[in-house]
Amino acid sequence: MYTGIQHLHSGVAYLALLALAGVFIYALIGALSGREFSEKDRKIALIAFILCHIQLLVGIILYFISPLGFEMLSAEGTMKDAGARLVALEHPIMNILAIIIISVGYIRAKKLSISKARFRSIYMAYGVGLLLILWRIPWSAWLG
Ligand code: HEM
Ligand code: HEM
Repeated sequence: MYTGIQHLHSGVAYLALLALAGVFIYALIGALSGREFSEKDRKIALIAFILCHIQLLVGIILYFISPLGFEMLSAEGTMKDAGARLVALEHPIMNILAIIIISVGYIRAKKLSISKARFRSIYMAYGVGLLLILWRIPWSAWLG
């Protein structure tokens, strides 16, 4: 169970990061081009939104079954160890915050009426969200 969820979280991470970067560039170009925000644009932004939600759900499950999540948070010395603090505390908190920002950007874009503002709501939120996520990824565990 743990290994499966761990691999799922690692695999969806690639998809979510790629989708966020792609939609960020796509929405930025959309805003600069001055064209109308269409239903197709919303659906493209929705792809990254859903991948982030899936990753959020998988991450929360992982947090409670992994020895590096909640279990480690309550262990002795975790706060003094930068690597342990990163996975048990900073990565989860920062990513929940990032996904909230991304979600608000997408939902706002649905409600706004001026096309440029709708594109901007997406590229700003996705851009900030992506940076926050990249900032607190346990890189050495993932790629090292
Ligand atoms: C812990 C897990 C999750 C939380 C806390 C969460 C939370 C939310 C919230 C707050 C909204 C916004 C509702 C609104 O005001 O419009 C939303 C919408 C949505 N979520 Fe999630 N979600 C989670 C997991 C998922 C998963 C696993 C999926 C897909 C497999 C998903 C797909 C969606 C979709 C499609 C929408 C609607 C998007 C739209 O309005 O166009 N979510 N979710
Ligand atoms: C878009 C959001 C997220 C991305 C891109 C992401 C990405 C990653 C990556 C790349 C790893 C390292 C995987 C590996 O070692 O192979 C990881 C580990 C982990 N993530 Fe996330 N994550 C996200 C959100 C979350 C959230 C919201 C939580 C918890 C609430 C969470 C909990 C964890 C935990 C506990 C680990 C360490 C698990 C272990 O190896 O046992 N993640 N994450």
